[in-house]
Amino acid sequence: MRKKLIVGNWKMNGSLAANAELLAALKAGFDAAQADLALCAPAPYLLQLQAALQGSGIAWGAQDVSAHEGGAYTGEVSAAMLRDCGCRYVIVGHSERRQYHHESDDLVALKAQRALAAGLTPIVCVGETLPDREAGRTEFVVKRQLSAVIHAVGHCCSEIVVAYEPVWAIGTGLSASAAQAQAVHAVLRAQLRAATGQAERNRILYGGSMNAANAAELLRQPDVDGGLIGGASLKAASFLSIAAAGLAVLQTN
Ligand code: 13P
Repeated sequence: MRKKLIVGNWKMNGSLAANAELLAALKAGFDAAQADLALCAPAPYLLQLQAALQGSGIAWGAQDVSAHEGGAYTGEVSAAMLRDCGCRYVIVGHSERRQYHHESDDLVALKAQRALAAGLTPIVCVGETLPDREAGRTEFVVKRQLSAVIHAVGHCCSEIVVAYEPVWAIGTGLSASAAQAQAVHAVLRAQLRAATGQAERNRILYGGSMNAANAAELLRQPDVDGGLIGGASLKAASFLSIAAAGLAVLQTN
């Protein structure tokens, strides 16, 4: 079993003061043996994360990136700028961006390409809505979303992280069951394997109401390589318990 990767997605939360407190608690409680840990923060706070986390073993990243390399794109942040701020990761294609900012599969694929070209690891989010699931379209939707990225990034596919985030599970307190998550993760891994000949290097994270109470069961699934955590990443205790669950699962396998 791979060491788990636990990523916090702070979304549009935080302040300099609140972040400082959270970062201090995370650094004090983090045990690198438990899991790989990363935090994806709003862009204005990336330098704060760099200053606080450098040398700590905790990585950081952004929640979005421009599909453009640079130039006259007011309000956009380029992949090179994120690298400049020490980012290792960037989330692309989160459902909140697909939904509220109308990001298409092709745009998400371009963003993943830009991230890789700048030396960042894209965390590519895929996931179905409740109507999709109820209509039996889950597999079709997540494969379509991942396929756009696979075609755009070609052989670099082994460098991406994928996050399965069922839209109906995000922020609702209603996580997918471990069996539901495993079923979709297996589909995604098979798709990566078919594209590149291997998929053992790719980490496939689960996201959607993951918390200290349900993390162990989700992380125990053979194709669940970690978590992308929203609400529960904003409190050090719950985020660290998820990392600890990652270790417990490794030790019992
Ligand atoms: P919650 O953990 O708050 O459900 O959010 C999940 C998510 O969207 C992470 O990217």
